[in-house]
Amino acid sequence: MRIVALTGAGISAESGVPTFRDADGLWEGHRVEDVATPEAFERQPDVVHRFYDARRAALASVEPNAAHLALARLEEAWGDDLLVVTQNIDDLHERAGSSRVLHLHGELRSALCRACAGRHAWEGDLVGGPPCPSCGSRGLRPDVVWFGEVPYEMDRVFGALDSADLFVSIGTSGAVYPAAGFVLAARAYGARTLELNLVPSEGSHHFHEARHGPAGELVPEWVDEVLG
Ligand code: APR
Repeated sequence: MRIVALTGAGISAESGVPTFRDADGLWEGHRVEDVATPEAFERQPDVVHRFYDARRAALASVEPNAAHLALARLEEAWGDDLLVVTQNIDDLHERAGSSRVLHLHGELRSALCRACAGRHAWEGDLVGGPPCPSCGSRGLRPDVVWFGEVPYEMDRVFGALDSADLFVSIGTSGAVYPAAGFVLAARAYGARTLELNLVPSEGSHHFHEARHGPAGELVPEWVDEVLG
């Protein structure tokens, strides 16, 4: 059985990573939509850098939770028949042991050079404009997909949805496209669809089945069922 698991901020909530819309999406008084945009970066690059520098630094103080670990356990048994498509830019899936993870919205621990398009693993701050390791220019930006930009690897996502037998959506509000539309594509391709979320998401009614509660409980239970 081929599975595509879509994850959102809710899967990292029990690790202490704040979600976007539970805490009304504010960061230092900025709405996420006002900070995570190319226009905001052009207008006030240091504010945007500080937003991502703070979240990159915070990764050191959080750990994967039972939901991340359960998906890694499933991958161990399922191999290439499981693809995790995450909207999250944290590295908790990888630190839990998942290796087949597609970051639709990019990653905090990566920097993208606007001059040479080089990508570099990045741990520290980007504020202050450190030089690009490839070309030396000071054009590095967070390797994150902002509102109005095109999510990464969409062809690969739809290829996986096309051949999926099961699409499970974990910890996402269904508020942001294109991820919010994946359940409709999965259904159109003939997959069964399951939502695991704290509360019914905006797209909950599109799912064949929906279970509500903390991911740290629901995901391990579901993985135990799948592994039978
Ligand atoms: N367990 C399961 N679900 C949870 C938990 C939990 N412990 N805590 C919160 N949730 C659910 C909330 O009910 C909500 O439906 O997780 C969802 C989080 O929704 P959002 O904050 O909107 O996060 P997400 O869906 O990932 O946002 C999508 O929007 O801001 C952009 O690019 C950003 O990737 C993000 C995208």
